Amino acid sequence: MSDVNIREVPPQDWSFYKSVRLSSLEDSPDSFGSTYEQEVLLSDAEWQARLDLKLRGLSALPLIAELDGRAVGLAWGVMHEPDTKIAHIYQMWVCPSLRGRGIAKSLLCEISTWALNKGCERIELAVTTINEAAVSVYTSYGYTPTGPIEALRAGSALMVQPMVKRLVAAAKPENTL
Ligand SMILES: CC(C)(COP(=O)(O)OP(=O)(O)OC[C@H]1O[C@@H](n2cnc3c(N)ncnc32)[C@H](O)[C@@H]1OP(=O)(O)O)[C@@H](O)C(=O)NCCC(=O)NCCS
Repeated sequence: MSDVNIREVPPQDWSFYKSVRLSSLEDSPDSFGSTYEQEVLLSDAEWQARLDLKLRGLSALPLIAELDGRAVGLAWGVMHEPDTKIAHIYQMWVCPSLRGRGIAKSLLCEISTWALNKGCERIELAVTTINEAAVSVYTSYGYTPTGPIEALRAGSALMVQPMVKRLVAAAKPENTL
């Protein structure tokens, strides 16, 4: 979608990030390991710290999709050091009124490019098995199931399927050093 802008969320936009993250948890309670009830209790300092990647020593790409200045999508790419070969995707969400227009694919594309530039060999995520829309998005973008399903969270009957996409760096053209 040409009118949707995808950008990295800087630490000073923590309040903006907080509002879209809480919206996503409220809208899609079966899609995430965390819950609205847990995260609505976080203090402002904790929301600020989440985006302070330097303070956390975290290599991550927190992305927001915006339309006319309104947050309409969210996703994080995260590398858990010392394992620098794997990037993970968390918090993927697109607002209901704008689904099916390629926003999730654009977010995935940005994270793939970031992960490749970081030297990662694959990207991993976990998706609730009954979440047909998300499974379809990931499948159409080259993710395949890997490993056994596991509980979404303690005490939940919902299960998540780990998925992986192997990254292939673009081949260098011949005759280049
Ligand atoms: C899953 C989600 C992020 C998809 O966002 P989206 O912007 O609508 O997805 P896209 O428009 O980029 O769709 C990408 C692909 O998935 C397919 N797809 C999207 N929604 C679909 C649906 N409901 N059913 C079947 N296929 C679907 C599209 O056809 C497209 O494939 P194509 O390009 O090969 O045609 C969105 O539905 C959402 O936010 N759901 C609630 C939160 C959630 O489940 N997050 C995932 C956590 S793992």
